[in-house]
Order: sequence, then C-alpha cells, then structure tokens
Amino acid sequence: MTISNRSYCFSSIVTLYFFFLVFLVLHTFASPCGHDQRDALLEFKHECLVNKSYSTPLLSSWNKSSDCCSWEGVTCDDKSGKVISLDLKFTPLNNSLKPNSGLFKLQHLCSLTLQNCGLYGEIPSSLGNLSRLTNLDLSYNGLVGELPAASVGNLSSLTRLDLWRNDLVGEVLVSIRNLTLLEYISLGYNKFGGYTPASFANFIKLSTFDISHNQFTGEFPFPLLNLTTSLSILGIANNLFKSTFPSDMSGFHSLEYLDVSGNSFSGPFPTSLFTIPSLSSVNLEGNQFKGPIEFKNISSSSQLGTLYLAQNKFDGPIPKSISNFHNLHILDVSHNSLSGPVPTPIFSNSDNLKRLYLSNNKLEGEIPSWFGGVLMLLVSHNSFTSFGKSLDLFGLDLLTQTLDFSSNSFQGPLPHWICNINPLTRLNLDLSNNNFSGSIPQCLGNTIIGFKGLNLQNNNLSGVLPDVFVDATELVSFDVSNNQLEGKLPESLIHCISLLILNVQNNRIKDKFPSWLGPLVLLNVLIIGSNDFYGPLYHPHVSVGFQSLKIIDISRNNFNGTLPPFYFANWPEMTMLTEYGEGYMEDGYPYHISMEMVNKGVYMLFELIRTDFRAIDFSGNEFSGEIPTSVGLLKGLRLLNLSGNAFTSDIPQSLANLISLEALDLSRNQLSGQIPVNLGSLSFLSVINFSHNNLQGPIPRGTQFQRQNCSAFIGNPKLFGLEDICGETHHVPSLPPPQQEAEDLSEPKEQVISWKAAVIAYVPGVFCGLVIGHIFSPFIHKWVK
Ligand SMILES: *[C@@H]1O[C@H](CO)[C@@H](O)[C@H](O)[C@H]1NC(C)=O
Ligand SMILES: *[C@@H]1O[C@H](CO)[C@@H](O)[C@H](O)[C@H]1NC(C)=O
Ligand SMILES: *[C@@H]1O[C@H](CO)[C@@H](O)[C@H](O)[C@H]1NC(C)=O
Ligand SMILES: *[C@@H]1O[C@H](CO)[C@@H](O)[C@H](O)[C@H]1NC(C)=O
Ligand SMILES: *[C@@H]1O[C@H](CO)[C@@H](O)[C@H](O)[C@H]1NC(C)=O
Ligand SMILES: *[C@@H]1O[C@H](CO)[C@@H](O)[C@H](O)[C@H]1NC(C)=O
Ligand SMILES: *[C@@H]1O[C@H](CO)[C@@H](O)[C@H](O)[C@H]1NC(C)=O
Ligand SMILES: *[C@@H]1O[C@H](CO)[C@@H](O)[C@H](O)[C@H]1NC(C)=O
Ligand SMILES: *[C@@H]1O[C@H](CO)[C@@H](O)[C@H](O)[C@H]1NC(C)=O
Ligand SMILES: *[C@@H]1O[C@H](CO)[C@@H](O)[C@H](O)[C@H]1NC(C)=O
Ligand SMILES: *[C@@H]1O[C@H](CO)[C@@H](O)[C@H](O)[C@H]1NC(C)=O
Ligand SMILES: *[C@@H]1O[C@H](CO)[C@@H](O)[C@H](O)[C@H]1NC(C)=O
Repeated sequence: MTISNRSYCFSSIVTLYFFFLVFLVLHTFASPCGHDQRDALLEFKHECLVNKSYSTPLLSSWNKSSDCCSWEGVTCDDKSGKVISLDLKFTPLNNSLKPNSGLFKLQHLCSLTLQNCGLYGEIPSSLGNLSRLTNLDLSYNGLVGELPAASVGNLSSLTRLDLWRNDLVGEVLVSIRNLTLLEYISLGYNKFGGYTPASFANFIKLSTFDISHNQFTGEFPFPLLNLTTSLSILGIANNLFKSTFPSDMSGFHSLEYLDVSGNSFSGPFPTSLFTIPSLSSVNLEGNQFKGPIEFKNISSSSQLGTLYLAQNKFDGPIPKSISNFHNLHILDVSHNSLSGPVPTPIFSNSDNLKRLYLSNNKLEGEIPSWFGGVLMLLVSHNSFTSFGKSLDLFGLDLLTQTLDFSSNSFQGPLPHWICNINPLTRLNLDLSNNNFSGSIPQCLGNTIIGFKGLNLQNNNLSGVLPDVFVDATELVSFDVSNNQLEGKLPESLIHCISLLILNVQNNRIKDKFPSWLGPLVLLNVLIIGSNDFYGPLYHPHVSVGFQSLKIIDISRNNFNGTLPPFYFANWPEMTMLTEYGEGYMEDGYPYHISMEMVNKGVYMLFELIRTDFRAIDFSGNEFSGEIPTSVGLLKGLRLLNLSGNAFTSDIPQSLANLISLEALDLSRNQLSGQIPVNLGSLSFLSVINFSHNNLQGPIPRGTQFQRQNCSAFIGNPKLFGLEDICGETHHVPSLPPPQQEAEDLSEPKEQVISWKAAVIAYVPGVFCGLVIGHIFSPFIHKWVK
C-alpha cells in the first residue's frame, strides 16, 4: 500500500470496525501479530519487569500463549498485523525508557499512551523512530530533561501531544514548531520555558493549547491570535508572561476556556472577549489589569459560567450588565478596588449564581436581598453597612452555605435573619470584625440547628450568652471572642456534639471552669482566656474528658488552687506525637489555603489544628503548688505557658521529654532550684522565659539557652552566668516587682509561634474544608480528557 502514514493511521484506527466487516465478507481473517511485533512487545515487557517483584495484571496477558494482537492495551492493524496502538495508562511500569527499548521497534505505532505509568528519567531520542505517531501521551510521569528536539520534530503526523505533569525543561514550543497538524497540546505543570514561535500561526487545527504552570516568558503568545476558528481552550496560567493583553479577542469564534491567571498581563479590561458566545470560563486572576470592568454586546446565548477577575487593579462599580450572563455560577472579583454599591437587582432572575467572591474591595451600601441563595458568599473587607430588608437565607437543604460578612461597617443589632434561616441549611456564618452591638438574641435557638459555624468575634456584643444550644448538634465552630459578654457559659453547649472550636476569649464571663464540657469528644480548641473565670481547675471527683483537646487557653483569669502531679495524664490527644496532617476532607474538597489567607499572613485556627499544633496556656492565673510532673507526657506540645502564676518548687526534669516544644514560658512564678540541663536537648525549643522566679545556679550551656535574650533570665538574683548572655558590662538588673515590669522585657521574639493571631483572626470559609481558591488548569485537563 502506498498511502501516507497519516491516512494509514487514520483508516486503521477509525475504521477498524469497518475493516472487520469487510474481512468477514471476504472470508479472510485478520493477520496474526507479526513475530517482530510480538518480540518487541515482550522485550518492552521484560525491560519493565526486570528486578521487580511484581507483575502487573495487565502485562500478564502478554505471553506467547496468545496472539499479541489480543494482548491487553495492544491494537494491531488487521491487515498487516502491525501494532498501531499501545495504551498502558495507569499500568505501573515504574521504569525509565531505554534508548534501545523494544518500544521503539514498534515503528508502526500511531498512538502511544503511557499516561500515569510511573515512567521516569529522560525521553530518549529513539522516540523519533515512531514517526507515524499521531497521539503521544506521556502525562503524569516523572520524566525529566529536555525533549529530544530533532526526534520530536520528526513526529510530523502528531495531532495530540500530552506531557502534562512531568519535570521537563527546555524550549518545547521551538521543538514542536513544525508539527503543524497538532490539535491538542497539553504541556502544563512542567518547567518548560522559552517563547512561542511565529510558526504557531500555522497550526490551523489547534483547538487545545495548555501550557499552564511552566516558566514561559515574554509576551502573550501572539501567533495564537491567528487561530481564530480552531482554538477552544487556551490555558497559559502561572507562567512568567509580561505584556499588554491583546485588545481584540472577539475573533475567537470557538473559544470556550481562557485561563491567563498568574502572569503579568496589563491593560484595560478585555471587553471584546465577552462578546464570544461560546465562552464558558474566563480566568484573568492575579495579573495587572486595571480600570473599570465593562461589558458590551453580551450575547444572549452567552455560556459564561465562571469568571475570575480577582487580584487585579480593577476599579469603578460592578457593572449592571453582568446580569446578562444568565449562566454565571461563579464570580470572583475579590482583591480589586471596586467601589460603590452592588447594583441591584443583578442576577435576581437567576438561580445559577452559587459562588460570589467580592471581598477586599471598597464596596459599600446594602447587602442585596438576592444574595440569600448564594452557596458561598465572601464579602469581607469592604464597607457594607446594612442588609437588605427582605434578605432571607434560602440555601439548599443540607448543603453548606458559607457567608462571610466579616470586616465591614455593620453596626446595630445582629441581623434579624439569623433567626430566620432554613434549618436544613448548613450555615457557616461570619459576622466578625464589625460593630454589631446589643445582645445575642434568644431566638437564635430556633435556627441554631442549621449552623455549622458562627463567628461573632470582634464586635461590641453585650449581655449574657443565651442558653440556646440545645439543638446545635451540627455546630463545628463557635466564636464570640472580643466582645463584652457576661454571665456564665450556657450549659446547653454540652449538646454541641460536633464542636471542634469554642472561643469566648476576652469577654467578661464569670464562671467556674467548664469541666462539664469534657464529654465533647471532638473538641480540639478551648479558648476562654481573658475573662473572669475563677476557682480550681481540678476537681478530684470529676473525670477530665477533653479527649481531643489540642489547644487550651485559660490565661488571664482568676483560676487558683493546685494541680495534682498526674493532672496532664488525662489528655490523650496532647501526649500523641503526630506528623503534619494531610488535610481535612469534607464534601470531597481538599483542604486548601487560598492566596488570600497567605497574603494576609493570617494563621488560622483550623490550619493550626490541621498541622497538629498543640498548646497549653495557663498564664496569668493564681495557680500554686508544683508544676505537675505529668507535663512530661505531653510529647506533642509545641507551646507551654505557665507564666504569671504562683507555681513553686523545682522546674520538673520531665519537661525534657517534650520533644516538640518550641516555646516555654515559666516566667513570673516562684520556681526555685536549678534550670534542668537536659532542656538543652530540646532541639525545637526557640523561645524560653524563666524570668522573675527564684532560680539559682548556672544557666546551662547550649545554644537553646545562650541565644536567648537577656530578659529570659532576669529577676532571678541567684542565677549566674548571665554575663555571657547579657554581655560583660551589662549590669544585671535587680528584681523589679513582676507586675510593674516593663512589657518590652518579657516581650517574646517575633518568631514565637504567634498562635494567638490565629485565634484573633481566622477566615471562615475554610473551616468546613471548602475551597476558597480554585484550581483551574487541572480542571481544563480533566475536562478535555
Ligand atoms: C537488575 O538486576 C541486574 C542483575 O541482577 C543488576 O545487574 C542490575 O543492577 C539491577 N538493576 C537495578 C536497577 O536494580
Ligand atoms: C497468558 O495470557 C492469557 C490471556 O491472554 C492468560 O489467560 C494466561 O493466564 C497468561 N499466562 C500466564 C502464564 O500469565
Ligand atoms: C510504582 O511507583 C509508584 C510511585 O513511585 C508507587 O506508588 C507504586 O507503588 C509503584 N508500583 C509498584 C507496583 O511498585
Ligand atoms: C532509532 O533511531 C535512532 C536514531 O535516532 C537509531 O540509532 C536507532 O537504531 C533506532 N532504533 C530502533 C529500535 O530502530
Ligand atoms: C525520522 O523518521 C524516519 C522514518 O520516518 C527515520 O528513518 C529517522 O531515523 C527519524 N529521525 C530521527 C532523528 O529520529
Ligand atoms: C522545522 O522546519 C524547518 C524548515 O523545514 C527546519 O529548518 C527546522 O530544522 C525544523 N525544526 C525542527 C525543530 O524540526
Ligand atoms: C496572522 O494574522 C495576521 C493578522 O491578521 C496576518 O498578518 C498574518 O499573515 C497571519 N499569519 C499567518 C501565518 O497566517
Ligand atoms: C457592539 O455592537 C455594536 C453594534 O453592533 C458595534 O458597533 C460595536 O463595535 C460592538 N462592540 C463590541 C465591543 O464588540
Ligand atoms: C459602633 O456603634 C456604636 C453605636 O452602636 C457607635 O457609638 C460607635 O461609634 C461605633 N463604633 C465604630 C468603631 O464604628
Ligand atoms: C460599644 O457600644 C457602646 C454602646 O453600646 C458604645 O458606647 C461603644 O463606643 C461601642 N464600642 C466600640 C468599640 O464601638
Ligand atoms: C480561690 O479563689 C477563691 C476566690 O475566687 C477563694 O475563695 C479560694 O479560697 C481560693 N482557693 C485557693 C486554694 O486559693
Ligand atoms: C505567656 O503568657 C503571658 C501572659 O499571658 C504573655 O505575656 C507571654 O507573652 C506568653 N508567653 C509566650 C511565650 O507566649
């Protein structure tokens, strides 16, 4: 036969079935696999199995008892008996490709799929022998190095090239610049660089071009602008492109996905883009676009479903015309300088909008009533002042609805609708950092069953915390810290069987220690610091419970009494030494910290839990007696603060068992004896404070001690060796009364785990494992696959 390679491959694969019929009619049979083909396949199999203790089920069918054309993953041309397609995706070959591999003897191959086969090492130049290839898929492997340019350049029939997620480098687009038949190019998540050659303007069949997450530089790949009829997926996100964005994109008749996020594109809002009716997803996030967002001539048949414009410099209002995108379900305009009120009614005739991110702008006025049905609404860090009168939350039954209204300018009483939500919603509500005042209404008890999270911290709420938690069985996080609440902790909190975090810090709550919360088996974080709690912590006849506690802060209260030596032995979670968690999964979403949080430097309580941060802060109370020796059991502990009490006697030697400890503050007690030398073996210990005690003897040698600030040891008149730390000429100050000591002397260093910052400010959307950020490019890839 004298047909060209390409049509040969084409006819072989696509009309296999047709050929089969023809052969039946002619009473002929398909040619058996040629011996050369069989031997080449077996050679390849043996390369893969050499020195391996396993045989993959797939390759076990590759044996001489059957025709090699019937082997799994193998397709032959019926007429010639040559192998034309090899598809081994997800077969754990775990091998490198050898230059003389049997694979390269299969010179009739049109399609080679080795996706996710655990291949590693370089791609050998023998690949060029497979010059009939139309499809080459080496995605999800561990391949390194450059593509062998001459060999790849030889694959002139290639229509589909997939090298997604490897570690390849080099100017790949130059290497493939002559392969003008390419329709699908997927090179994302490698370390490719370079530019886009002009010849790409000739790739008139190219429909998918995805080079996201690489190191491409220079200007927008302008040659692609010629591909107006073919291009449907353009993914160039997370590269180093820097240029103005093309001013007219309206010619792309087939464009569906555009992701240019994470580059340095500049210029005005690309209005022309949005006249393309086929467009379904646009991501311009994280560039340097500026000026107003303007839409013109939006097609009534617009398919636009997701629009990400975050982290640019857009200003002006949110245009009313955005409501013409009837299919929009995700809109992210956060981190810009948008101002004015949210136009209303936008989207009022649409149930589609499910995620709306408006945070970190300069928006003001009223929260429109139509927001009620949005599943995830983030409007924090704006200047909104009120809620629409008819706002009702009508989130979908049993779906988590996350509403973040934090850091705005709301004031007056809490909004009426918190008593008027669909009880079948799982609401995650953040009203923190506003100026809400008045009391928490009793009617919250009617709807609390629908709450998953409620954050009211940093407001001006007063009165007694109402006893409304009888039905709060879904509540995971409850935070009313930094208000002016008084009275006791409501006993109905014991019904919160899902509670992970309870934070009432910095109010005026006057109560005994809530040991009755001990049975809450999921409680990870208990923060009741800076209130008026009083009395003993330990009751001989009350079982301790708190079996999951990782962070407890009871600091700056009036707790008193002694703690028995075995006190800490009851906290199983604290004694466990664990590795950093992989992430909290719920609703199928991976736990993800958005850039927003990273940029703000906000440590989140949930992040702390996830990373197994463990802390005990008993500081600023009136505890007396010895430090319980059982403290040595708390192997997972990272921070221990017993400062500002009246502990006496020696520092327990068992502290040296706390191998995870990073900060130890025993200052301002009445501890005596010597500093245990073995504390010097705690390799993570970076912050120590022993000041203002009655310690004596030498300060141990060892870097942990010697690198501390002088203030870590002062106020211990019988301690010696301070000259080394404070300097020869430094006069060791004599003991000032602890309560009058200047703050700066005890101020911990910057690197002290600033976990309190987490307590003060965490972002709510995360805590149910919801993804605030989004991963766009892999989505493209999935979509195409
Ligand atoms: C595989 O086995 C051969 C012979 O036993 C040995 O020479 C070679 O180093 C082994 N290769 C690997 C990667 O273990
Ligand atoms: C050889 O392959 C056939 C299927 O083609 C399979 O049934 C048989 O178990 C295989 N033999 C061996 C020894 O793996
Ligand atoms: C192949 O390698 C992958 C990744 O290194 C590993 O997870 C897998 O267990 C290996 N498979 C076999 C069968 O050894
Ligand atoms: C493949 O091509 C190389 C040149 O790139 C050649 O040296 C080699 O012999 C060829 N291998 C096979 C198996 O045909
Ligand atoms: C290119 O392919 C031809 C067969 O079409 C082969 O003879 C030649 O060796 C290949 N060149 C390279 C560099 O692989
Ligand atoms: C592309 O084609 C040109 C002209 O035919 C040739 O000079 C060049 O070497 C080719 N480049 C590659 C990478 O194959
Ligand atoms: C690409 O488009 C530009 C402007 O439309 C045109 O001048 C140029 O000839 C085109 N290039 C190719 C290779 O078609
Ligand atoms: C919108 O349509 C008008 C009239 O059809 C046209 O003049 C104008 O150029 C279009 N604007 C854009 C941005 O496409
Ligand atoms: C908070 O609201 C009160 C009235 O409820 C008002 O007096 C006070 O000035 C407001 N504070 C801020 C910081 O806006
Ligand atoms: C809290 O509210 C009171 C009145 O209820 C007001 O006097 C006070 O200024 C408010 N505090 C803040 C910080 O806004
Ligand atoms: C603890 O404080 C209370 C007052 O709050 C006092 O009555 C009691 O005697 C104190 N107990 C101890 C052991 O100091
Ligand atoms: C320990 O607590 C005291 C008082 O609450 C505080 O001033 C100090 O900074 C804390 N020490 C550490 C290491 O966090």
